[in-house]
Amino acid sequence: MEIEFVASGAPTPAKTALVRIVLEGAVLEGAQAQAQAASRFTGQKGQILDLLAQDASGAVRVVVVGAGKPDGFDALGAEHAAASAYHAVKLSGLEALRVELPSQDVNLAAHAALGLRLASYRFDKYRTKEAAEKKPTVKAAQILVADPDAALAAFAGLAAVADGVAFARDLVSEPANILYPAEFARRVKALESLGLEVEVLGEAEMTELGMGALLGVGQGSVRESQLAIMRWKGADDKDAQPIAFVGKGVCFDTGGISIKPADGMEDMKFDMGGAAAVTGLMYALAGRKAKVNVVGVIGLVENMPDGNAQRPGDVVTTMSGQTVEVINTDAEGRLVLADAITYTQQRFKPKFIVNLATLTGAIIVSLGMDLAGLFSNNDELSQNLLDASTAEAEPLWRMPMPAQYDRNIDSPIADMKNVGARPGGSITAALFIQRFVENNLPWAHLDIAGTAWRKNGAVPTSPEGATGYGVRLLNRMVADKYEG
Ligand code: BES
Ligand code: MN
Ligand code: ZN
Repeated sequence: MEIEFVASGAPTPAKTALVRIVLEGAVLEGAQAQAQAASRFTGQKGQILDLLAQDASGAVRVVVVGAGKPDGFDALGAEHAAASAYHAVKLSGLEALRVELPSQDVNLAAHAALGLRLASYRFDKYRTKEAAEKKPTVKAAQILVADPDAALAAFAGLAAVADGVAFARDLVSEPANILYPAEFARRVKALESLGLEVEVLGEAEMTELGMGALLGVGQGSVRESQLAIMRWKGADDKDAQPIAFVGKGVCFDTGGISIKPADGMEDMKFDMGGAAAVTGLMYALAGRKAKVNVVGVIGLVENMPDGNAQRPGDVVTTMSGQTVEVINTDAEGRLVLADAITYTQQRFKPKFIVNLATLTGAIIVSLGMDLAGLFSNNDELSQNLLDASTAEAEPLWRMPMPAQYDRNIDSPIADMKNVGARPGGSITAALFIQRFVENNLPWAHLDIAGTAWRKNGAVPTSPEGATGYGVRLLNRMVADKYEG
């Protein structure tokens, strides 16, 4: 989507729909008044009045979008309204939108543009025969604003976030025959062009480091496991202590020898959603030149059944030195995270670690598909995450980590086992990861198994499929709390 900020005198291009975002109680004029009288349009949030008529501005169609009450109309409201208008006309054959907001606020204009970027995301590279009438035709937008230069400047940072979200969505959408660990790592390496420093470790280096848990998961795959390390040094002091994000990157999760049922297994290409979110975040931070030092570490593996795959009952030694009895090879994400987290702590000594993972089906049972689960040993870090979650409408809910459940993962023959009983499955998974957090380092785990992929019930700014959940939330937390 090509975005342009223009003053109201700017000419309207051909094949343009005028999008008028209006507040509740708006009284329309002329032909629009007639349409309003013949409908129930009052400007309530989510209402759309679609007029196939010429407007004085030269637009050949007018879409009036309700934005609700003035005090409830904010940046998210502007994104939502612009995105809804895009969906209303995207297949019409028209080529552009001209967006008129209820105020001249520069920030609202920039967020309307962000809404259009997020709404127009599509993963269509493997469609060779899609009928022309099913392909979106709207490719450009003009946003009307009194000070176009100021709006463009306000949009620069948001455009980087939109790009980061799109990058994460692309990674999650790719099938596992295309996006295996080495290919994921190559795509991360290519981000050096943004100014990120990227290192990729292979199995030989990880063996040297003693990452027996991560390597055990990838052992049954013909694809080589990888650890990708991204660094963004945006603080004035390049050596200042960084903050760190760690992602689960299981490019495909068959369950391994503890194999999953066939039905729905194809969904498990998304099991690298945590790694994709970390990568998208690093993309956004580099893209907007964030003033902070950040490390992103992602463990990339494929979990396959094979003659060489790890068996239930195997004992692996993690990089931390702790041993794990692998009761169920399908509880692999926590094994990958354990070594990635140890590596991140020991090498970078960060201020905190936030890890993201499509970790458990149990979190979907607990919280459904809209809320991610937050598990943490630190109230301040949790509150920062929850504040950012609210601001960006990427919902998050803090879950308990009761110490008495930790016994469930004690093993009779090793330091721990990788699964507890079924009850409280997302909690024991978090308690497992916590055993790898050293010296009570502030740490949070986001279980995004429900939110990384949207099956139905698309929202205007997040079409069905990969959501890119986490990029906006974490970018916001970094911007509001850790940049200076
Ligand atoms: N990747 C899955 C989690 C998952 C399951 C995400 C369903 C989305 C939908 C994870 O690796 C897994 O298989 N977890 C098991 C853990 C169990 C064996 C303790 C699960 O949730 O069933
Ligand atoms: Mn699994
Ligand atoms: Zn998994």
